[in-house]
Amino acid sequence: GDIVDVIVGQSDRIDLPEIRFRRSKARLSMVRCIHTHPGYGGELSDVDLSALQTVRLDAMCAVGVSQNGNPTTVQCAFLNPAATGGFDLTEILPARSLPDTEWLRQIEEADVRYRAKIQTPEQDAEKAVLVGIESEDSLAELQMLAETAGAETVSSMLQRRDKPDSLYCIGKGKADDLSMLVQTVQANLVIFDEELTGVMQRNLEELLQVKVIDRTALILDIFALRAKTSEGKLQVEMAQLKYRSQRLLGQGLALSRLAGGIGTRGPGENKLEVGRRRIRERMTDLERQLCALEKQRSLRRKRREKNRIPIVALVGYTNAGKSTLFNQLTGADVYVKDALFATLDNVSRPIALPRGGQALLIDTVGFIHKLPHDLIEAFHATLEEAALADVIVVVSDGSSPRLLKHHKTVREVLQNLGASDAPQIHALNKADLMSNGEGADPDAVKISALHGDGLDALLDRIESALSANRQSLRIFVPFTAYHLLGKIRKGGVILEESYRDDGVILCVQADRNLMNSIRKEGIRILDDEML
Ligand code: GTP
Repeated sequence: GDIVDVIVGQSDRIDLPEIRFRRSKARLSMVRCIHTHPGYGGELSDVDLSALQTVRLDAMCAVGVSQNGNPTTVQCAFLNPAATGGFDLTEILPARSLPDTEWLRQIEEADVRYRAKIQTPEQDAEKAVLVGIESEDSLAELQMLAETAGAETVSSMLQRRDKPDSLYCIGKGKADDLSMLVQTVQANLVIFDEELTGVMQRNLEELLQVKVIDRTALILDIFALRAKTSEGKLQVEMAQLKYRSQRLLGQGLALSRLAGGIGTRGPGENKLEVGRRRIRERMTDLERQLCALEKQRSLRRKRREKNRIPIVALVGYTNAGKSTLFNQLTGADVYVKDALFATLDNVSRPIALPRGGQALLIDTVGFIHKLPHDLIEAFHATLEEAALADVIVVVSDGSSPRLLKHHKTVREVLQNLGASDAPQIHALNKADLMSNGEGADPDAVKISALHGDGLDALLDRIESALSANRQSLRIFVPFTAYHLLGKIRKGGVILEESYRDDGVILCVQADRNLMNSIRKEGIRILDDEML
């Protein structure tokens, strides 16, 4: 053959230049790479073997070179999609006794096999390497998120550091190691556990030559897949556009790819477009649509306030079992899945409480460690609904080793939403999987939403919390004070009303504020004997 290039690298690595192939992508490249291993034998390394596959080389051959410059041994590999690892390896041979035509025949066979494989392409899953600087725990969660988004985790790397490096997030040396790892495991995606700046993302994509995304993009991607209602879809798209507009610098690789994959998926039908002007236009349009939806929502909320049905919100870490509990308590059929963020849109249903009270139960989107800021903002309206609840039930997965950490995250998010004032009940779920309650909150109600255990006790606690805030009382409103009826109806729940000649007797459920103002207006509070 001809020599198309000669490359000199370092003793342990080399940058392959872009080779202009003479053949279509449906065939092998017609390029064989023969390289030396100075100071070592000719045994092919993992990086060599993955380069064979990535570049579709006809063959990859290593020649060991001894300290005094003489060739020692040789090994060669050929692509074979059917073989373990995707290649055939020859034996390690003495450098001076190469087979004459055998290897040429193997190249021809490899080309035939490759063509056959290309004609029946399989949809390859995205193969991801995860990178973190915080902890193994956080990486384990990132792996679950990656799985939820449909990526297969092929390797991970942790470099503990207090703050990210401004250019590569991890140090440059570690980034070089990552580049080797990506090649070795043939990943086509790298997911960082930290939020990346546009500069970091561009640098990393240039270095690694694969798509690079961060935890935020991954979560946004899952949300894009999961959003069902039109409001949910608009909120996710808004969050994605905000995220992108801040990072137009990066994403060179991610956006130049036509195929949709993690980090490029948009919710619903709308393809996410590049370009600042288009992003701005789309964001204005989304804002308008969201504003209209928000108006509808506040109308609904007002109607509810008019009827004064108390609201109980289920909040908690993703996968804690909120939807399972919601279904058990309301008899509804909300999507339950052992995956993160199975439920994205708020759903609400009435529930009956044991002592005759009524409430509206709301299931909300799950929280997560490092919940992207853009998402909290975009979902503010939805999350606020939970924050405004009369009682908040914090559901946790009692069987999770990360229980305390998750609980802390939930409390922080609630605090950010300004919801820390509402009475909270802690429901420790998955009691059936808990071996002991060590470290658990002694005030929590233990339940198993799946098996329906402990739910009566939970409902009882909900009702008590609601009634601690509200009281039932009988009052007499004379005709002369009829102007107050509107206020009483708005602020309380009328359980009974009976008219007399001089006015009306109401049995009303009222919170402390309303009760005080009733008293101040001089309305008579009746006791049972008077009735
Ligand atoms: P997101 O929608 O991600 O926020 O999750 P979620 O909190 O709504 O959790 P979901 O109800 O979807 O439940 C998550 C998984 O936990 C499902 O596989 C449930 O079957 C399981 N699960 C829920 N409650 C229990 C329980 O009491 N015991 C056991 N063993 N599993 C449970």
